[in-house]
Amino acid sequence: MANAAAPAPRANMGEPAPRLDARLKVTGEARYASDFPVSNPAFAYLVTSTIAKGRITALDLAEARAVPGVLEILTHENTGDLKAVAFGSASTSTQQLGPEIDHDGQIVAVVLADTFEAARDAARRVRVTYAAATPSATFGAQGLTEDDATKVSERIKEAPAAGDVEAALAAADVAIDAEYATPTQHHNPIELFTTTCAWHDNRLTIYEPSQFVYGLKNSTAKKLGIDPGQVRVVSPFVGGAFGAKGQLTPRTGLIALAAKRLNRPVKLVASRDQGFTIATYRAETRHHIRLGAKADGKLVGYSHQGWEISSRRDPYCVAGVEDSARLYAFGAVRTKVNIVHADRNTPGFMRSPPVVPYIYALETAMDELAAKLRMDPVEFRRVNDTMTDPVSGKPYSSRSLMQCYDEAGGAFGWKRRDPRPGSMRDDDWLFGWGCATAVYPTHVATATARVRLMPDGKVRVQSAAHELGTGAYTVIGQMAAQELGVPLAATTVELGDSDLPPAMVAGGSNTTASTCSAVMKACAAIREKLARAATTANDGPLAGRDPGQVVLKDVALTAPDGATEKLEDTFRRLGVSAIEEYAEYAPEGVKPDAVKSLYASKGAMTGGPKGRKLMYAMGAEFVEVRVNAATREIRVPRMVGAFAAGRLMNTRTARSQLMGGMIWGISAALHESTEIDKRNARYVNDNLADYMVPVNADIEEVQVILVPEEDHDVNPAGVKGLGELANVGTAAAVSNAVYHATGMRIRKLPIRIEDILQA
Ligand code: MOS
Repeated sequence: MANAAAPAPRANMGEPAPRLDARLKVTGEARYASDFPVSNPAFAYLVTSTIAKGRITALDLAEARAVPGVLEILTHENTGDLKAVAFGSASTSTQQLGPEIDHDGQIVAVVLADTFEAARDAARRVRVTYAAATPSATFGAQGLTEDDATKVSERIKEAPAAGDVEAALAAADVAIDAEYATPTQHHNPIELFTTTCAWHDNRLTIYEPSQFVYGLKNSTAKKLGIDPGQVRVVSPFVGGAFGAKGQLTPRTGLIALAAKRLNRPVKLVASRDQGFTIATYRAETRHHIRLGAKADGKLVGYSHQGWEISSRRDPYCVAGVEDSARLYAFGAVRTKVNIVHADRNTPGFMRSPPVVPYIYALETAMDELAAKLRMDPVEFRRVNDTMTDPVSGKPYSSRSLMQCYDEAGGAFGWKRRDPRPGSMRDDDWLFGWGCATAVYPTHVATATARVRLMPDGKVRVQSAAHELGTGAYTVIGQMAAQELGVPLAATTVELGDSDLPPAMVAGGSNTTASTCSAVMKACAAIREKLARAATTANDGPLAGRDPGQVVLKDVALTAPDGATEKLEDTFRRLGVSAIEEYAEYAPEGVKPDAVKSLYASKGAMTGGPKGRKLMYAMGAEFVEVRVNAATREIRVPRMVGAFAAGRLMNTRTARSQLMGGMIWGISAALHESTEIDKRNARYVNDNLADYMVPVNADIEEVQVILVPEEDHDVNPAGVKGLGELANVGTAAAVSNAVYHATGMRIRKLPIRIEDILQA
């Protein structure tokens, strides 16, 4: 039965099936990495640096070693056998244990003890002497260095550009020139960063929450200098990830080495504050945008320069101009991305990495220009809607942006908006309505899956894809159930284990599209095998029928004329008690050795701007804010988002992802920011009490509208993926609403009371 949490499917949408793993999760039976029991484990506790830049000059371990139960202490002096792993898709950082210190909170030692308490006690007794230098914490600090991202980053080889921006902007009737800023954000998944390692002879098993079990297996093997065949990574459930659990971080090799040295399993659960510095985070950014239009609202030029903080050693960047430059019919385009190296840990992927900061800046600029043009912001986007990439001229595979604006705007009541800032006052509260575009590139990766069908219609699906809380088990099961004509309850799905057939990182919202495409292929092979057996037999109800016309449904094969054979009879013909097919799906445009690369975790995702056509999921978000006229407190009483993302496998999980994304958008707009003590480049609010995120009282009405869209270009499943769609543009929509409420244009996130105090 349809309800708000389980919207009735519209065209090209699957049933809102409850999660296959729902019961396991609510009863505490779902096993997260650190829940796996290992026999007689030793416990690890990390010692992290108290300076951000400099060098370890001395280590005094005597007092720590004297703590009863302490077994061993790893430092840079005894871990030289760990190999360097290059920065990139496999590894977040090239950093080692020392003696050089690159950032505050860098791992400098690992204490191993019989108990967690002994390890923690001893960790506090490790005496480290440093030769400290003055760090450069962030923008504005002395001593930063800057690189053109196209020269040092794998992510952006050429900055999108088209036409003559200077000439176009000079000829514009109206233009804006503005700078925007976004803060550092940390993931803070409820599940901490944990690693358990156990060796059995020469085989290493790693239990670690992972968005990429094959990646972790291959990169850890590299780190240890062993064969990847010796490593298995187990991670069936991840308690929140958002990008921080997709790559090798420095802790894993250390814990594997510790387990080897002690000849005993080792368990690490890093503390919440350590998670801020031993894992990745969303980097702080700055933007300079110039945007010009003719008096009729037609855009003529868009210039976007971005600056992104990274560490000293690694050139991480997100380069969101790759996506922002395609969003509207801009006319001329010029972009540039700069990497700014500071004394910080290397940032990394965080939900919708490129588009969150860059689309925030662009969508705020769009609102500013619409206001200057005295044009409705929705109409402004309609005038500049396009089915063609302004940079490459490639067509969009599908694009339903204005349908989203129309549906969300209608539900929101946008046409009742008085465009004058500050005009919608009700007593003590200033009301403001704002909107913005959500956009996310449709990524698709090479994927494999193994599907087994039993004569009674039971199905098992296996793939080393990942469940991050998104509903992967369920939607993958739904695809198999649908393709084999059985109810979802007849399927079991196994994910998150590197002994299963490989899948790409659960990142870039590619899992549903990629893994479901592989599952479809395996199911097609099973159907074909059965249909051939039934139709080519000398006798039986389907003998002589066209195998291409036979349908598998309800544990039977049926021909168009109604002739039918029970599945168990077809199995008998084949003389087997199970049929299992392994399938490899490689998207259009990948290299011929893509599957081999997938096994080695070397492959890349395609899609977005990379293919023959532009592939993007889109949405429109409308936000109401109210600002107290006296206290300037900002609330978000309601929000409506409409989204189109190709085929939706499950309206319940889709809506859940989209709603969660919009809530994160409110968080980005009004709450979240990692504060940095600039004197010592240290994160100040590295705990869940001081790191602000919205609670229930901050979130009032959130309405999600699923807009039907059909797209056969993106992948065989027709899925665009939407895990990272809805938190894009949200912050701009809130910010635009704050402008409408107050007349104050705040060009940085988060927007705080102090930003909108009146003079
Ligand atoms: Mo996501 S940041 O692509 O895990």
